[in-house]
Amino acid sequence: MNILILGSGGREHTFAYKISQSKRCDNLFVAPGNAGTEPIATNIAIQPTDFEAVKKCVLENNIEMIVVGPEDPLVQGIANYFAETPELKNVMLIGPSKRGALLEGSKQRAKEFMMQHNIPTAAYESFTAESLEAGKIFLEKLNPPYVLKADGLAAGKGVLILNDLNEAKQELENMLAHSKFGEASSKVVIEEFLDGIELSVFVLTDGKNYKILPTAKDYKRIGEGDTGLNTGGMGAISPVPFADEALMKKIEDRIVKPTVNGLAEEKIDYKGFVFIGLIKVNNEPYVIEYNVRMGDPETEVVLPRIKTDLVDLFEATFKQTLNNITIEIDERAATTVMLVSGGYPEDYEKGKEISGLENVEGSIIFHAGTKSENGKILTNGGRVLAVTSMDTDFKKALKKSYQNIEKLSFDRMQYRNDIGFDL
Ligand code: AMP
Ligand code: GLY
Repeated sequence: MNILILGSGGREHTFAYKISQSKRCDNLFVAPGNAGTEPIATNIAIQPTDFEAVKKCVLENNIEMIVVGPEDPLVQGIANYFAETPELKNVMLIGPSKRGALLEGSKQRAKEFMMQHNIPTAAYESFTAESLEAGKIFLEKLNPPYVLKADGLAAGKGVLILNDLNEAKQELENMLAHSKFGEASSKVVIEEFLDGIELSVFVLTDGKNYKILPTAKDYKRIGEGDTGLNTGGMGAISPVPFADEALMKKIEDRIVKPTVNGLAEEKIDYKGFVFIGLIKVNNEPYVIEYNVRMGDPETEVVLPRIKTDLVDLFEATFKQTLNNITIEIDERAATTVMLVSGGYPEDYEKGKEISGLENVEGSIIFHAGTKSENGKILTNGGRVLAVTSMDTDFKKALKKSYQNIEKLSFDRMQYRNDIGFDL
């Protein structure tokens, strides 16, 4: 069949890499894609949120399956658009409906869902500009650090963790009264700080059945030792060594099952990924956030470990027959290290030539922000390349990634040398 992937990052290159190996894939398209997807698929220059353009592309190319990478089109309702358009309704779209996507699109909605279905999470209250003063009084009752979350999508920047009460009150005011994160911070969730170690669990659900995919841990801060600004992710490891059977059983019983059952109870159409950001406090798992898509760079370590044909998995997801599939996982560990542009996550330059790609051996390079021009591969974003490796344990895998990184270069290339330092 012909398959279209929406998005342009490392996550989408990884989907393309796996799907292009499937016997069931005839022609693969990525919109808009990057220099990494170009040799294995046809890149189409359309934006994933331009539903009319996506429709045209699907009809012109007889696309039968579409995998939605990023959250924006999901939150904007691309699954509903497909379901409600007669010519598109049989296209197997992998991604939740608009109501499902609200689990990521609104932090308050996610918290309400967790409360409703008894899913363990930090205590919280939410506030608007009208209740700003009540919000400040609520902060006074909490112990530091204070966690403030913009309700809406804020490109991963909408969470502030502050030690000082006055600073927390000021930031609350900046968010609610001065639109610090635009419309996204017209509502703010204030929650209890949870002190523990984070991990992510990925679930593929058809709305009735689910499969738990390999766990991963990502490294969000720009600086070594988890310091400095938050980024989209500087590296990842799968599996998470401390996610043992006992912890995974708690996660499945207390979080995964109630989440999938909660979606079904609320009659929410959900055929796609649930990315559950968790924190382990005294061996008990709590949900920090839901995302309604795969993570980036987590995808770059999770998908290479899935041996089952992705197209079979996705077809079963669309047809609600995931219960008939057994998912086969590669026992080896996978690691990825992100190479980023100097200055990222703040201002950075694009268009730098990348060299050394042809010398890489024993790792897979997933392109994130890259483009090709006149036979050269140039940087085209903050996160540029993800260097993924697999081996019997994560330390050996990391060693391969770092050895290959020595062969790669572009002007002001940066990366973290300590991925996995806390494990
Ligand atoms: P989120 O966008 O909700 O994933 O939050 C971004 C990051 O903030 C998370 O990955 C955590 O490191 C941190 N965080 C969010 N909520 C809490 C919390 N309640 N307690 C401690 N850390 C948190
Ligand atoms: N790496 C975090 C995310 O994809 O949201």
